[in-house]
Amino acid sequence: MSFLARSAVRACAAPSSRLFSSSAARLTKVAVLGAGGGIGQPLSLLLKSDPLVTSLSLYDIRGAPGVAADVSHVDTASEVKGYAADQLDQALEGVKVVVIPAGVPRKPGMTRDDLFNTNASIVRDLAAAVARVAPEAHILVISNPVNSTVPIVAATLEKAGVFDPKRVFGVTTLDVVRAARFVSGLAGVTPSETPITVVGGHSGPTIVPLLSQNQHAKSITGEAYGKVVHRIQFGGDEVVQAKDGAGSATLSMAYAGAKFTNSLLRGLNGEKGVVTPTFVKSPLFADQGIDFFSSNVELGPNGVEKIHELGSLTAEEQKLLEACLPELKKNIEKGKAFVA
Ligand SMILES: NC(=O)c1ccc[n+]([C@@H]2O[C@H](COP(=O)([O-])OP(=O)(O)OC[C@H]3O[C@@H](n4cnc5c(N)ncnc54)[C@H](O)[C@@H]3O)[C@@H](O)[C@H]2O)c1
Repeated sequence: MSFLARSAVRACAAPSSRLFSSSAARLTKVAVLGAGGGIGQPLSLLLKSDPLVTSLSLYDIRGAPGVAADVSHVDTASEVKGYAADQLDQALEGVKVVVIPAGVPRKPGMTRDDLFNTNASIVRDLAAAVARVAPEAHILVISNPVNSTVPIVAATLEKAGVFDPKRVFGVTTLDVVRAARFVSGLAGVTPSETPITVVGGHSGPTIVPLLSQNQHAKSITGEAYGKVVHRIQFGGDEVVQAKDGAGSATLSMAYAGAKFTNSLLRGLNGEKGVVTPTFVKSPLFADQGIDFFSSNVELGPNGVEKIHELGSLTAEEQKLLEACLPELKKNIEKGKAFVA
């Protein structure tokens, strides 16, 4: 929970003029769509603990009022309300940030793309509701396959005439969290010393960790390098297999989702220098027909403030990137075609 504690300290330490001048920004209503699920429940709990969230709106096609009643007893200042299946529009009223973990998770042997048929329409319909009720909200997409669901959200908003590329994010934070954790173990330091920039997309070979850019990670070579890269790319499978049919990562994903939401809220509140990888509409590889890409993004009062270049890559990282791009392109096109 260190990221929440840090933001709380910052919120308290901010000069009062900023607190007052940004009072509208500080009234931050966050909605979780899919709040009754494996990710949605712990994510709702973590968001209830985030002092930057002033109001929490929990929606699901089943179970959200119960989750809301439970979470609402936690002794933090924010208000919590749950909404039943037929109350999506009410759930979205006045929200500034919408986090979407709605949809089915993987079972052993499935790829994220295998979820497309079910999750594409769920995400499309939720995005259409956001476009209608809260067209200025920031949308954080967790539902897989992220490489396709983010283009689906963007295209749905575009159709409704309200797409702003600064406000749509694919949450790839779990890859970043895993990379920091796995690399720290190998390097014998704490994860806070091994922040790893992970670029590309969010599925197997499209996940490209840039170990060379961290002073502790760059000395990992040879077999150890290949193994840790594979573990970062396919770490999700470890959880799917261990859960043996009961789903995929939920607790670490909730942590990652709350962490990314907190980063965005800090940026929206005017904090400078909030930079983290996220999958957004991006110019970096647009000339190759890949117009969504995850790289380090600076978050600010409008959402995406600045998309960073990848920086220098080793020959091995260049190879990983080359494997990523064609797969990512296919995933993005599949998402776009679904809405067209
Ligand atoms: N981005 C990532 O790194 C990452 C990591 C893990 C899982 N995921 C994805 O997150 C999604 C959710 O995973 P989970 O384990 O929480 O699944 P889950 O089945 O436990 O929960 C999903 C929830 O979504 C709800 N839902 C279904 N359709 C809905 C709709 N139209 N509106 C609102 N709610 C709806 C369900 O009722 C359920 O409560 C999956 O697609 C999974 O692949 C993403």
